[in-house]
Amino acid sequence: MSKKDKTVYVCQNCGHEALKWMGRCPGCGEWNRMVEETQRPVQPGGSRASFMSRPEAITHISMAPEMRLTSGVTEFDRTLGGGLVPGSLVLIGGDPGIGKSTLVLQILARLADRGTRALYLSGEESAQQIKLRAQRLSIGAETLYVMTGTRIEDFLEQLGTVQPGIVAVDSIQTFYTDDIPSAPGSVGQVREVASRLMAYAKNSGVPVFLVGHVTKEGAIAGPKVLEHLVDTVLYFEGDPGHLYRILRAVKNRYGSTNEIGVFEMKDSGLEAVGNPSRIFLEERPQDVPGSAVISCMEGTRPLLVEVQALVGPSPLGMPRRTAIGVDSNRISLLVAVLGKRMGMELGDQDIFVNVAGGLKVDEPAADLGIVLAMMSSFLNKPLDRGLVAFGEVGLAGEIRGVSQPGMRIRESGKLGFTRCLLAQSNQESVAASKKIKLLGAASIQDVHELLFT
Ligand code: TYD
Ligand code: MG
Repeated sequence: MSKKDKTVYVCQNCGHEALKWMGRCPGCGEWNRMVEETQRPVQPGGSRASFMSRPEAITHISMAPEMRLTSGVTEFDRTLGGGLVPGSLVLIGGDPGIGKSTLVLQILARLADRGTRALYLSGEESAQQIKLRAQRLSIGAETLYVMTGTRIEDFLEQLGTVQPGIVAVDSIQTFYTDDIPSAPGSVGQVREVASRLMAYAKNSGVPVFLVGHVTKEGAIAGPKVLEHLVDTVLYFEGDPGHLYRILRAVKNRYGSTNEIGVFEMKDSGLEAVGNPSRIFLEERPQDVPGSAVISCMEGTRPLLVEVQALVGPSPLGMPRRTAIGVDSNRISLLVAVLGKRMGMELGDQDIFVNVAGGLKVDEPAADLGIVLAMMSSFLNKPLDRGLVAFGEVGLAGEIRGVSQPGMRIRESGKLGFTRCLLAQSNQESVAASKKIKLLGAASIQDVHELLFT
């Protein structure tokens, strides 16, 4: 360490810096995440990554038609908002083993098939391991190049010889730069390596994928800082016990967020699922109380999923409340509303709520379906199989309208549903449909009357 090096303590969760060690990070409140890192002062004319354009009058900036690079895998391209924007930095985060490397390799191969020179840089696997995986995925693209290593300078030097049109770096936590003394994977390294790649992307116009592991807390390891730096953040998620994987855009400078792509993990790699609603409803039980279908919006696309509830007397003093795929606070709120507004006392009942297929639903529009599933289980009355529902439930027991009722109804009709329960205000705003009968409800009492009496 030279004399001028400065020691700081950096939170590995949020990137907060402090001059002395602390047990608890003042930035994010996490315990035991402060790690000593050494910062080297920047030398004038040093190698710090930078890019800067000349000042230009806004009226003179030419509008070249936006050229997006598409892979032809529509589930992927749509999640990005219609393909890759030149010079963009896309972070793909997810749990270890979920399929990030598989996804990235497959997308690069598809781009290579379409005539783009693609470069896959791995700091985790050897070239042979990557080849093995590629064989399993039946990848034979001529213009897909593989490089292995962990020092980012080596890689940047090689770029001139390859001249790629797309680059993927797997994973950002394994790379390091000589300019920073701390270990690979630390906040300082990850941030510096990412900003080098960002400078490369912006200067060359080549889009770059960064693969990042997620910690058990669900943040991309170390750096929330990375999320600010990149243009697009995609999360690859799914229950390892299920075959379905969902790619979700949580930040996108070039498209809408919450857009999702659905894939199935097969022996020969990931396969895009063209009609996810059908898949999520495939194994729906017949005439069993506690099952309801909701029509929710994932980004710009309606998706039908099944919500299941199991409500039964609890043998315990403290009844259990378990929610999978929905927010458990939301369940508590709906249980309280049912008790207060309808006299449906669930205080002494165990309640389990699950979204089938391993999907996560965080839209208030799911409320009505959850309420239906809980009522149906509690009253032991199955719901009509052709019924679908969407709507928000307020604290007064009122049913509130939600966005995009028309799209939700159309998707339901397409999948053969014959009745749709929705907020009265939504019913008034959409045209009647021949295919599907609309049942407008203003309160949960209406819902009870319409369906359970
Ligand atoms: P991987 O892409 O290595 O995950 P990550 O990069 O996110 O850590 O995928 C790992 C899992 O995917 C592994 O458990 C095996 C499974 N898999 C398949 O089921 N089919 C396949 O064709 C491949 C390549 C992997
Ligand atoms: Mg991997």
